[in-house]
Formats: sequence, C-alpha cells, structure tokens
Amino acid sequence: MSSKSIVSITDYSTDQILSILDSAATFEANPNQTILNGKVAATLFFEPSTRTRLSFETAVNRLGGRVIGFSDASTSSSVKGETLNDTIKMVSNYADIIIMRHHLEGAARYASEVTSVPIINAGDGSNQHPSQTMLDLYSIRKTQGRLDNIKIAMVGDLKYGRTVHSLLIALTHFSPQFYFIAPDELRMPEEYKIICDKKGIPYEERTEFNTDIINEVDILYMTRVQKERFTDQMEYEKVKNVYTLRNKMLEHSKDNLRILHPLPRVNEIDMDVDANPKAYYFEQARNGLYARQAMICDTLGLI
Ligand code: CP
Repeated sequence: MSSKSIVSITDYSTDQILSILDSAATFEANPNQTILNGKVAATLFFEPSTRTRLSFETAVNRLGGRVIGFSDASTSSSVKGETLNDTIKMVSNYADIIIMRHHLEGAARYASEVTSVPIINAGDGSNQHPSQTMLDLYSIRKTQGRLDNIKIAMVGDLKYGRTVHSLLIALTHFSPQFYFIAPDELRMPEEYKIICDKKGIPYEERTEFNTDIINEVDILYMTRVQKERFTDQMEYEKVKNVYTLRNKMLEHSKDNLRILHPLPRVNEIDMDVDANPKAYYFEQARNGLYARQAMICDTLGLI
C-alpha cells in the first residue's frame, strides 16, 4: 500500500542522495517557485519542533503549496484516544503528502504502511531523522566541497541521537572516518558500529573530548544530551553537561573545520563559539529549507 515514502535514510541510494543535493542547490538559488501549486502538505508533529516543522512548512509555502496540520498533538483527537492508524487514514483524505514527527521508533514506517499518501519521517524517537541528514550532507558538501573521505567527530548523545544514526548510515556511501565521542552511558549503539564493520569503515570511540580530536577532523558534529529520552532522570543529571565546546578549543583546528549541530543546543556549544567563522550551525539550519524543498518535490515525483 505504501507509495514513495521516506522513513529512513536507507530509502535513498548514493545516486539519489546526490540528485537530491543537486536539487537542493537549485532551490537555494531560486527558493520561490510554483511547483507545488494545488498541493496540500500535512505536518503532524506529535513531538515538539522548531526547525524541522517550520522549514518544512516554509518549503511548501515558498513552492506555492498549502499546509495543514498540528504542532501540538494535544490539540488533535489523539488525546481522545484516536489511534495513529485512524489519524493517518483521516489526514490522507485531505493531503497529498504527510510530514510526521513521532516519539515512537517505527511510527513513520507504520504510517507509511497504512496509507498510499507519501510520508516523510520528520523524526521517530531515537531512530531516524532523514531530512536532517539530507541538510547535514548538503552542509558538509557545501563547506568541504566534497562528501568523500570526510573525517568527522560525532560528539555527545550518540545513543539516543537520531540525527547521528541517520547521518552515520548516509555517510557510509562516502568512505568517511568516524570518531565517536560519548560518555559510556551514551555510546554509539552496536547496530551502527556493525554497519561500519560490515562496510570496512574505520571508527574510533573515545570518552574524552579534547583538542587532539578537534584538530584532527573536518567536521565536528555536536549533539545535545536529550533529556526527553531518559527514563531515569538521575541518569540524565549525570551526563547532561558532559561536554562543552568553547572557542579557545578551536585555536589550532584545521582551516576547513566546520562545526555542525542539528540544534537545539543547550550548553554543549558555548555562545563564544558563535562568532567563529567555523561555526556553521545556523547556516546548516537554513540549508534545511532547500534540502526539504528537494525532498518534498522528489517524493511527489515533481522533479
Ligand atoms: N534539528 C531538529 O530536529 O530541530 P527541531 O527539533 O527544532 O525540529
């Protein structure tokens, strides 16, 4: 029953990823078009969001489409007990595409199986965030001039971080060298290390975050320790401030280093980094508009 939904970054081949990135570049050059005239997109956010929802909605609006949906599931009939199955079937009556964020891993896959309207996964629990990955890849290619052979350090919450899980999988197409920097409690899950092992992709795991690693890499991908994913708040308290990147730590970093963060940040990047030209996280979020324009149009078969 499912159509061309995007529930995982694995739904894209290497060529498809590169094609979406090329499309995103054309949307960056010309973001205001009429390609979605007459189309309705539904944004169903069962979990909070600033960037993902607003950039998807901006993407639709700038391409001439219209948006329906909710940013707070407590205003939807799910609080009356309506199932995800019924909600998706209802919204499929009204919209040409559904963009959904949900706290449960696998929710987007499930939604894609109960409707023929394409679903784009805007984040499902700690599993996947494919549109974030597309904008991350776009940002890496734009700042480094290539995707191949990037040395990248992923720092922070590698256990629950859906952005690092999706990005790791996507980068395996491009011969990366990974450094996984996390406290023991938040290490990269085994399943992702097995993916690297099977593809012969080198990775190092470290618990210490210091200038040795910062000076080595092309991309520093910082992440937030996600309070909302912890069942035991005492565990969260132990690791919540585990790493903070400060400007002075960048003194001897490579010229081409760029600091990415999917945002929101809490205190893992000090505000004194913001003025450093190597800080790229706000531009990265802007790139989300173009990457999402490309993904929506591709999913609807319009490019
Ligand atoms: N990067 C990201 O998913 O941000 P939001 O939670 O604000 O959408």
